[in-house]
Amino acid sequence: MQADKNRTVYLKDYRPTDFIIETVDLVFDLGETMTTVGSQIRMRRRPGADPSAPLIFDGDGLALSGLALDGKPLLPERYDSNANRLTIRDLPEDGAFTLTIKTRINPTANSQLLGLYRTNGIYSTQCEAEGFRRITYFYDRPDVLAVYTVTIIADEKTCPLLLSNGNLVEEQRLDDGRHMARWHDPFPKPSYLFALVAGDLSMIEDRFKTMSGRDVTLRIYVEHGKAGRAGYAMDSLKRAMKWDEERFGREYDLDIFMIVAVSDFNMGAMENKGLNIFNDRLILADPETATDDDYARIEAVVAHEYFHNWTGNRITCRDWFQLSLKEGLTVYREHEFSADERSRPVVRVEEVKFLRAHQFPEDGGPLAHPVRPTEYVEIDNFYTTTVYEKGSEVSRMIATLLGPEGFRKGLDLFFERHDGGAVTIEDYLTCFEEATGHDLTHFALWYHQAGTPVISVDSAYDEEKAELRLTLGQKTPATPGQRIKKPLHIPLRVGLIGPNGDDMEASAISGGAHRKDVLELTQDEQTFVFEGIGARPAISVNRDFSAPVRVRFDQSREDRLRIAGAETDLVARWDTVNALALEALVRAAENVKAGQPVTVDAGLSAVLVATAEDETLEPAFRALALALPSELDIGREIGANVDPDAIHTARKTVIRAIAETGCETFVRLATGMDTLSAFSPDAASAGRRALANAALALAAAAENTPARASRAYQAADNMTDMLAAMRVLAHQFAGSDEAEDALSDFRRRFAGEPLVLDKWFSTLATVPGGQTLERVASLMGDTAFDETNPNRVRALIGAFASSNPTGFNRPDGAAYDFFADFILTSDRRNATLTARLMTAMRSFEALEPQRRALARKAIERIAGHDDLSRNLRDIVDRMLK
Ligand code: ARG
Ligand code: ZN
Repeated sequence: MQADKNRTVYLKDYRPTDFIIETVDLVFDLGETMTTVGSQIRMRRRPGADPSAPLIFDGDGLALSGLALDGKPLLPERYDSNANRLTIRDLPEDGAFTLTIKTRINPTANSQLLGLYRTNGIYSTQCEAEGFRRITYFYDRPDVLAVYTVTIIADEKTCPLLLSNGNLVEEQRLDDGRHMARWHDPFPKPSYLFALVAGDLSMIEDRFKTMSGRDVTLRIYVEHGKAGRAGYAMDSLKRAMKWDEERFGREYDLDIFMIVAVSDFNMGAMENKGLNIFNDRLILADPETATDDDYARIEAVVAHEYFHNWTGNRITCRDWFQLSLKEGLTVYREHEFSADERSRPVVRVEEVKFLRAHQFPEDGGPLAHPVRPTEYVEIDNFYTTTVYEKGSEVSRMIATLLGPEGFRKGLDLFFERHDGGAVTIEDYLTCFEEATGHDLTHFALWYHQAGTPVISVDSAYDEEKAELRLTLGQKTPATPGQRIKKPLHIPLRVGLIGPNGDDMEASAISGGAHRKDVLELTQDEQTFVFEGIGARPAISVNRDFSAPVRVRFDQSREDRLRIAGAETDLVARWDTVNALALEALVRAAENVKAGQPVTVDAGLSAVLVATAEDETLEPAFRALALALPSELDIGREIGANVDPDAIHTARKTVIRAIAETGCETFVRLATGMDTLSAFSPDAASAGRRALANAALALAAAAENTPARASRAYQAADNMTDMLAAMRVLAHQFAGSDEAEDALSDFRRRFAGEPLVLDKWFSTLATVPGGQTLERVASLMGDTAFDETNPNRVRALIGAFASSNPTGFNRPDGAAYDFFADFILTSDRRNATLTARLMTAMRSFEALEPQRRALARKAIERIAGHDDLSRNLRDIVDRMLK
């Protein structure tokens, strides 16, 4: 990962390769510390390419052990090779030839978990984005599509299972205790979709009949003893396959679809053609070990990777700048699937919360970049919430502007026109334009301009004219490398709520384009006039979060309370309740900082209690309203000169006051959980548990004793309730006997369950207060902790750095130093993981001066090392710029 240290790759430099690859034949002879990879590549010169151009293949840390052209060993003067590049000159006149390359790799020593690696006795691969070049020399770029045949040879005892993409075409027992399997994938694909798995695993199998009547075999492979936990993932897969047929007309194309769950994985999961590889935490679930959130995540990610088969695999990216072409669109498809399978408004609120918690800060900080960047140093660092979630929001806005039918028409054209292609975001947009006649020229700026737009709203109501004038302004703050911002094309869904709480319908709207209740804001400022409005309405802006923007609207308290109590768009309703709470919390934090008493106005408590009690609302929604903004949310809202300790004290005080006001209600709702019958992971049941657990946290705060949570912990018969109770104990009653008892019981009970212990590590790492640093440091010595496993690292170090504002931002800076030390060691082992971990500090500039200075010092200390990975170097340099 030290290759070409400071290269910058620019979008403007894109050009196709000089040669075309037709087929690739790979032979893997698997050995724990020495695996040989034979690669036979049939190629020809691209028509029109310079006939004297050499062939230049990518490599990363490779050792070349053989090279032949058309079967004849290549003379040394015809090629140059080093660990990171293979250059061959004087290629045949007619331009068609077969290249044979042999490399040697060591899968056991591959701690980067990129390329082919072996952990826990399992060989597996991760090739996106640039991991294939760690296996063999190749055109390791997404626009080179080839048909692969893969032969795997390995010891039969330790590796009874040999998997790759496509269909199994041959199996053979070899004489020396080894065996081989050959796979053929008929669909041309880029190298990043290559996958290989070998080892000894358990499997569950099912079938799916596609819309055209083809039978597909479905298999999920997991560690021995875990097969009983793969059922929900299988069920999710079948529902996703059906949904993609019904909603988007997309049918699966191979006879077999396989998923393998591995325990050491840098990311969530990977969509390799016909052979998805997953982080096992996104496959394994049963009531005793997985929470409702885990179930929901599994369903979403299984669907996401499956949906990539069309958006990503059948149609892929021309270059990595187009990453959002596949990721943004696939996240949008995943979100729509979750909305259809679960509660649409609840799913949407969760998306909004995620966007605000992760994407907005990225967009407002030193790592901000457009959905389609124009340059990168390390592409691994661009698998971001901007490319994924903001990219999804951009596709969602297209659907809002075009309507569902228009969106479907555009997507149909996209599939028809570009199947088998490696394309750009322009190609994608053109399909919507041609299919619907809409001009998306201005809209396309969403892909190119970074930063979160701020929408200002001003209104004037004229009773005589029965007219409402709504003046909307937009401004996008400067981001690194983009000082000047242009106005965007923003679809804003607006609702007018009458005095009796009903929606009001305008007889006419003027001032700009609109589609029903969606106003199209295209200029810096625009006034929309609504006619036929008989009474002054409360105005609800950005219903359903139609655009990923911040809204600044100085609205009267009465109007906001009307929206909080009556808005039929539940996303906007939640947003208003949440904004009222956030405002109160920010004010309280200011008071604490100024040494003034904290007061909570009765109106807010009343809204929250009323929402909690409102039986017409689904429990999951009420739970969302009761989960008050986190300390991190409050800090982000304050934005500058942030004092995490003041925020912590303020939040605790406010919650206590609200809890006391609604104590009776919360106690009643918290005890509701005793009456729930047998566990079912469905969304409605999960919602009831969420409400009971949100109420438990408040009831415990009101009672100010750990007794209730301790009883709940002991009574819990599923992981959702158990973890919720343990978190209340650990976070609200830290140091109490009840908290320590629950924590040690949990540690003992799940001693053999690493994924469950991750919840324990995270719970402990996020205990508020300065003393948590010592606990985290000592937990690194726990026998269950393993610094080479990404899940463990994220659960302990990641949770501490990104989700414990008082603990991590200890005023003495000791946690920054601890973190910097960890980062420096971890970087040598696993650069992808470490660079991502480092982003936890990206908002350090928002801290109060003393902490800010200490944080900067720690980051500068990291930056001062000259042997950082390219991944980490890129992140710290941008953070310090
Ligand atoms: N394409 C995968 C997904 O479905 C993520 C792969 C990320 N890999 C990486 N090296 N950053 O989202
Ligand atoms: Zn994806």
